[in-house]
Amino acid sequence: MKTDSAVVKDAVTSKKVASDKLLLKVEDVSMRFGVLAVLKGVSFSVPKGNILVIIGPNGAGKSTLLKLISGLLSLQEGEIWFKQHRLSKIPPHRISSLGITQLFQDVQLFSSMSVIENVMVGCHLRTRAGFLSAGLKLPQAQADEQRILKRAMSKLSLVGLEQKAWDNPAGLSWGQQKLVGLARALATGSDLLLLDEPYSGLLADEIDKLNQLILQLQRQGMTILIVEHLTDVLMGIGNQVIVLDYGEKIAEGTPDEIQRNKRVIDAYLGSG
Ligand SMILES: Nc1ncnc2c1ncn2[C@@H]1O[C@H](COP(=O)(O)OP(=O)(O)OP(=O)(O)O)[C@@H](O)[C@H]1O
Ligand SMILES: [Mg+2]
Repeated sequence: MKTDSAVVKDAVTSKKVASDKLLLKVEDVSMRFGVLAVLKGVSFSVPKGNILVIIGPNGAGKSTLLKLISGLLSLQEGEIWFKQHRLSKIPPHRISSLGITQLFQDVQLFSSMSVIENVMVGCHLRTRAGFLSAGLKLPQAQADEQRILKRAMSKLSLVGLEQKAWDNPAGLSWGQQKLVGLARALATGSDLLLLDEPYSGLLADEIDKLNQLILQLQRQGMTILIVEHLTDVLMGIGNQVIVLDYGEKIAEGTPDEIQRNKRVIDAYLGSG
């Protein structure tokens, strides 16, 4: 039988969601850079399989929040739970191996490697052979290499770029480079994907394609957090939205609720 503490209220649907259906729980997180308070007591929960959209004006603390979840920044105050893990107790370099991956706004690919090799970098977490056996080309390492190549190719194909596998990434458009970055993030096999402004610099048809891809990943069971400024695009795909303003969560709800929220309209969306 579930106790009261074993359930949490899902602010989006107003249903009770069993804690085993939650993937991520952010509890009263605050963050300072020197004297600047960038996040102030932010809390929210994300059930498995949701697409959570985080919006807010420049400097609201959105990227900082994603970096705290992925372990790129260390928690100062509050707690973040991922599955059963308290992230404050996990060394930052181990957080990604729990199943969290982040696509940064400024995707950086290695220009000394081909596109497919860039995606293979994301697979390294799943390699069984060590550096020594890889260097000596022992059978286990060769088998791993083949497995990794196959896996990386399937992710590249998912983003529609398998034809570019052996090209140099420098020759790709910015939108294509972002998709390669996404394929690399997916190759880690994570179940939580953090996307920081994934649409910036994309053309209209690339935005549509990325949206289709995000929805496909959700259907495959992934949980996705998206930070974005393009609110009209996001309102179509998110099923949960939070709004940050000067480091505070000023609203949470469904896209419809957010678009009607007076405080959000005043702070961010505007009456138009
Ligand atoms: N490493 C850092 N050191 C000092 N200040 C920082 C650092 N990172 C971010 N900040 C400051 O923290 C505040 C929040 O930054 P953050 O990047 O989280 O905002 P954001 O909501 O992502 O903004 P944007 O929409 O412009 O990307 C800003 O005032 C920023 O200048
Ligand atoms: Mg940002």
